[in-house]
Amino acid sequence: MKRIIVNGANGYVASNFINELLKKNYDVIALVRGNGKFSATERVEQALAQVDQKPVKLPDNLTVYNYSLMEENFSLSEKQLENIFDRDVDYFHFAASLKYDYKSKEEIYSTNVEGVENSIGVFSKHAKGSSRFFLVGTAYSCGHFKGIFEEKFYPDEDISAFRNYYEWSKRLAENVVRKKIENNGLKGYVIRLSQVAGNNLTGETKTDYGIFDFAKRVHSLAKRYPGKTVRAKIAPEGIQNLIPLNVAVDYLMQTVAVQKVPEIMNFVADTPVKNRYIINGLNKLLPLKIVPVPDLEHSEMNSLERLMAVGMSFTGNYTNVHIRFDTSRRDEVISRVNDCMDEETVYRMLEYFIQNVCEKTGRKKETLSVGNNNH
Ligand SMILES: NC(=O)c1ccc[n+]([C@@H]2O[C@H](COP(=O)([O-])OP(=O)(O)OC[C@H]3O[C@@H](n4cnc5c(N)ncnc54)[C@H](OP(=O)(O)O)[C@@H]3O)[C@@H](O)[C@H]2O)c1
Repeated sequence: MKRIIVNGANGYVASNFINELLKKNYDVIALVRGNGKFSATERVEQALAQVDQKPVKLPDNLTVYNYSLMEENFSLSEKQLENIFDRDVDYFHFAASLKYDYKSKEEIYSTNVEGVENSIGVFSKHAKGSSRFFLVGTAYSCGHFKGIFEEKFYPDEDISAFRNYYEWSKRLAENVVRKKIENNGLKGYVIRLSQVAGNNLTGETKTDYGIFDFAKRVHSLAKRYPGKTVRAKIAPEGIQNLIPLNVAVDYLMQTVAVQKVPEIMNFVADTPVKNRYIINGLNKLLPLKIVPVPDLEHSEMNSLERLMAVGMSFTGNYTNVHIRFDTSRRDEVISRVNDCMDEETVYRMLEYFIQNVCEKTGRKKETLSVGNNNH
């Protein structure tokens, strides 16, 4: 079977992708860093156990390497690299810092831009002829762009064009790929994911990124201040694009099966989620009433509302966004699947998340939810 290399393999999206690749008998190489407490192999085991909700024995079609994203040749030996790249491969670069704040700027830049440069360097030096390099990017590399964000490269811009350093770094990373395609003939591609939610068929949601990070914070406030009403600076008709995890994985699986893919594909959901779905869901699930007030000023907030605002330091920037994403190039090669994220689906995901993640305290980070715990 075809070989697929995945870095950042213990992350939320990557581990779910790998799980599916293994089921379909692909030959998978997982690049992961050990973290002092757990080896790279143990971390992959934990991530896959989290996907399947049961302990796993790593199958024969999976090989794990402990690598260093930032080091020359990933700190792997020539022999290891020869083995990894001894045939045509699809290489997926998932590794990224999902931090966003000013004080993490250096880490975000080094991981998300220099890490990609290094990854392409290792790939270009060792990969065989028709191997392909896929950067997993974000649809929110659009920044403050207004209109329809197309499946094409946009130029680098100053931080003021973005909501945070994460978005900025992911735009720069796309252009690292573009330059390598233009100047060095890299067979490079960018897959832009919108915010990855849970499974829209089962409701299972084990990520605490984006709106689920918000839900976690509201849950914590609701525990401390049950029965209160809190105003929050949110536009109820503002939209967010959330792609269900199972849909993102399906599209990734289709990508590896297709020979010729466009340079950029927007993996987003057809219909965006309205902020009011999230507010309504949380109001039903938790003993706290959130009232969205789009133009609420900080000076008008009471102490509880300020606590809520602190918890929204990341999501707050996404509460009045109306961006649309073009998918026409993606649709030329990828068959659409049910990507429904209607109000009921969002409710089921929030319900699962609150009952199974927020309510279960005292579990270790590694087993609580894979990755995405940066904010
Ligand atoms: N989740 C989303 O909603 C979403 C949306 C759009 C795009 N994306 C993109 O999808 C990709 C995966 O996201 P995710 O949500 O699955 O993230 P995640 O769970 O946080 O996983 C990130 C992965 O990157 C690795 N990583 C971070 N810094 C590293 C470093 N310095 N060296 C080596 N590895 C490093 C992490 O390894 P450690 O565990 O060792 O830190 C982890 O394996 C990212 O590129 C992200 O930008 C995600």
